[in-house]
Amino acid sequence: MKTINEKQVKTFLSMGNVIEVVKKLYFECTEGQIRAGNRIYMPIRGEENVGQWLVANSLSQPFFGSKFSSVFPKNVAIGLPSTISKISLYSAETGELQALIDANYLTAIKTGASAAVATDLMARKNASVLSIIGTGLQAYSQVLAIQEVRKLEKVYVYDVVPERIDEFISMIEKEKNQDYSIVAAASGDECAEQADIICTCTTAKSPVFSGEKLKPGTHVNAIGSFTPFMQEIDENTVLKASKILTEHVEGLWEAAGDILIPFNEGRITKEDVTGELGDALTEKVSARDNDQEITLYESVGSGVLDIGLSIYVYQSLYKEEKGK
Ligand SMILES: NC(=O)c1ccc[n+]([C@@H]2O[C@H](COP(=O)([O-])OP(=O)(O)OC[C@H]3O[C@@H](n4cnc5c(N)ncnc54)[C@H](O)[C@@H]3O)[C@@H](O)[C@H]2O)c1
Repeated sequence: MKTINEKQVKTFLSMGNVIEVVKKLYFECTEGQIRAGNRIYMPIRGEENVGQWLVANSLSQPFFGSKFSSVFPKNVAIGLPSTISKISLYSAETGELQALIDANYLTAIKTGASAAVATDLMARKNASVLSIIGTGLQAYSQVLAIQEVRKLEKVYVYDVVPERIDEFISMIEKEKNQDYSIVAAASGDECAEQADIICTCTTAKSPVFSGEKLKPGTHVNAIGSFTPFMQEIDENTVLKASKILTEHVEGLWEAAGDILIPFNEGRITKEDVTGELGDALTEKVSARDNDQEITLYESVGSGVLDIGLSIYVYQSLYKEEKGK
């Protein structure tokens, strides 16, 4: 059994190659070559801290696996990551554990890459103003991802903890792949007013901007909410969205408070969810019809992407070691 640490994982994953792996996994998933099972989430002593298990089974590679993530939002205040993830990869031939993989970075880069795929499909081609709400690891990965798929002019950043904003801006300044300005926003609503593309990447349980503020044509990447009781974007945003895509529709109905809350109130129906990114990549559904539509990528994670990417890391490492 191999133990693969964060440093080893990072060696094989750059935003550019992960976007390609993620796209390939979406195609494989639509062809039934890799499948996700049901997720388990468990509130740990109240609703704030959560443990979550995602599982997937590859039919094209000899592996199945699970990812366990803890999300403990207050960890940030004591210098620990709020999202802590590990992947167990098993042999589909013997059932034995093949690898235990540190997956904090893998999770963030996978989440970013999937949002890059969504943004490329759903945002206007000339979208150039990006707003980021939240300044944690997922927010960082979102900026790295979106800059891969659009020519940016300006990035607005907002966090409920103002001290985190300047540090985040300095971090992004070092990672820019093109020339754009990065400024602090005074509120989530300012982010919404300015954005062509807005990414919400927070641990908030209530909406971080008002949907009334969105301009026609805006694309929203809602990344943070992943339990039925978390609502990071408001009902107005969901009602305004003429296209709603996600990683895995079953996962969305298991976990996405952003969608489940308006659904349970009878304000949307199952038909309001357009489909999966794989459906848009294979042109079964349209991701945007005109420049006026508001579009929404509702991300709750998918075992297919985590396990698929961990197989990629495992095979890359194994191939490299064999070649030595
Ligand atoms: N969709 C996915 O696949 C996926 C993958 C990984 C993590 N996540 C989720 O994304 C969220 C962010 O993860 P992270 O690791 O970056 O967390 P983090 O704790 O490092 O960062 C979250 C940030 O959000 C800020 N914040 C909280 N409430 C806010 C509000 N109301 N307005 C503005 N800012 C606010 C916090 O101050 C913090 O800076 C978590 O809920 C996590 O579970 C989703």
